[in-house]
Amino acid sequence: MNSQSNNIYPVFDKMLARADKEELLNQKGIMIWLTGLSGSGKSTIAIALERELHKRGVLCKLLDGDNIRSGINSNLGFSEEDRKENVRRIAEVSKLFIDMGIVTLAAFISPTTEIRDLAEEIIGSDDFIEVYVSTPLAVCEVRDVKGLYAKAREGKVKNFTGISSPFEAPTHADISIDTSKLSLEESVNELLNLILPRIEFSTK
Ligand code: ADX
Repeated sequence: MNSQSNNIYPVFDKMLARADKEELLNQKGIMIWLTGLSGSGKSTIAIALERELHKRGVLCKLLDGDNIRSGINSNLGFSEEDRKENVRRIAEVSKLFIDMGIVTLAAFISPTTEIRDLAEEIIGSDDFIEVYVSTPLAVCEVRDVKGLYAKAREGKVKNFTGISSPFEAPTHADISIDTSKLSLEESVNELLNLILPRIEFSTK
């Protein structure tokens, strides 16, 4: 506990518990953490997955890189330190949703093992599903949906992941999805098979 945390007296024991919320929603709260390069398909998969879960009556919340970076994390850039703080805040916010029994999806590059481990530590391993969207760099660069790879190659965007800033492939992801090999529908179906059994309230 740092000095700023002195004289703080949490009242968690008096509040309704997570299990009360999960019972209300008839689902288990869980984190689905998508990591991968820019343009790998994280957001596209997360958006489609959220819709499929929603259709099945599952309450979800999707947190996405560009949206969060224009709001709560608008003061952060792309240095290693800022990326870590970006992910720390996202993980803390996600934890609030998970504590409400909500299936929380996060789509962030989260480029290093240290950063992903931090997220997992904040959320708790039991609630953390790591999805590696493993689409190769060459494919992401050809797609270049936002034109950022071209700018990075020209040196107009600094510290760009995969070009001038590292991306460490996850070594213990729960599942890997390569969108250059799988269609969006196939990708989402693989994820649904993994996730649906984990969020059934009755089997918790
Ligand atoms: S993370 O590394 O901190 O996890 P995050 O997922 O929030 O990154 O944001 C990535 C998005 O920011 C990219 O998809 C891209 O649109 C944009 N972006 C802008 N500059 C950079 C950069 N230097 N490196 C990576 N992404 C960048």
